[in-house]
Amino acid sequence: MDYPFPASIGGIPLSGRLILGPMAGITSLPYREFMRPFGISLAVTEMISDCGLLYGNQRTKEYFRSSGEDHPLAVQLFGFSLENSLQAVDVLEKESSYEFLDLNFGCPVPKVTKTGAGSSWLRREKELEEYVSAIVRRSRKPVTAKIRLGWDEASINVEEVCRILERSGVSLVTVHARTRAQGYSGHADFHRIEGLGHRLSIPLCTSGDVRDARGSMEAMALTGASFLMLARYGVGDPLLAKELSSALEGREERFPRSLGEQAGFALDYLERMVSYLGERGALGILRGVLPKFFRSFPGDRRIRRAFVETARDVSSMREILLSLKEDNCH
Ligand SMILES: Cc1cc2nc3c(=O)[nH]c(=O)nc-3n(C[C@H](O)[C@H](O)[C@H](O)COP(=O)(O)O)c2cc1C
Repeated sequence: MDYPFPASIGGIPLSGRLILGPMAGITSLPYREFMRPFGISLAVTEMISDCGLLYGNQRTKEYFRSSGEDHPLAVQLFGFSLENSLQAVDVLEKESSYEFLDLNFGCPVPKVTKTGAGSSWLRREKELEEYVSAIVRRSRKPVTAKIRLGWDEASINVEEVCRILERSGVSLVTVHARTRAQGYSGHADFHRIEGLGHRLSIPLCTSGDVRDARGSMEAMALTGASFLMLARYGVGDPLLAKELSSALEGREERFPRSLGEQAGFALDYLERMVSYLGERGALGILRGVLPKFFRSFPGDRRIRRAFVETARDVSSMREILLSLKEDNCH
């Protein structure tokens, strides 16, 4: 496939076109480090509150913690007030190491939108332009943005918003092809942005229902996108990232999943999580994420139950994974 833009964003070259999308509660530093070797060319942190940054909140600082291996990195900011967001950019530049500043205009969660942040910006086009232009002027790093099709079915304005972002100096726009009203359900509708990538002077990244290489390549071809964002379906399935990055390079490769190998991946992820967050800090997230490594296997319900019922501590989780790994390696 020919892509309308080279694999670079804002003048920064990237090794490929697959972006690891932001997911609150999941896209932590150990998750990003775990996923990168599977063909990720850029990873985005989960959304970080500008107010949290200004208050010097310890938990907020965790969200932008990075490492030598965790690059190129986009740090995602959300906020509702230009003044706060500008100060937050200054804090990030002083305290964090990253290549891109990503602005969140897609979050549908009422707690966020009722303050005027996230996808509620899609309803304030004029203010949005002032906000983004000022942040682009302030930021020393290229600014990217993530949006949705619109607030709801009756107010789809993705094309207008992309024009605003383009005029404001944004270097890449990611469109999650759902409306705010859809949340994360229903289908992503790429027909709404057919050919958009060819009409913009900045690269387009598509997000939504990225669950296999064929469907994702079709969505990119339809929209004229040059980048692809992997989110939910990569959780517990790192080989999907490998298949997508191969497809983006024009190779149709399928990597069969085996229970033993999946258990090995899950163990690697577990150890990374524990070494960063400690056993207590990692436990809740591990309980939610580990079963996902086995979702398409016969007996996955039994495995899921084993995690829920017996995995009260990390060592029991480790034992379950080790036994799955060994049982399937003989
Ligand atoms: C649990 C969860 C948390 C998310 N957190 C963020 C976030 O912090 N910032 C953001 O821009 N998008 C966030 N998203 C949206 C994803 O990045 C992605 O756009 C969305 O899941 C659609 O892609 P998919 O259908 O392939 O998963 C989140 C999605 C999920 C499921």
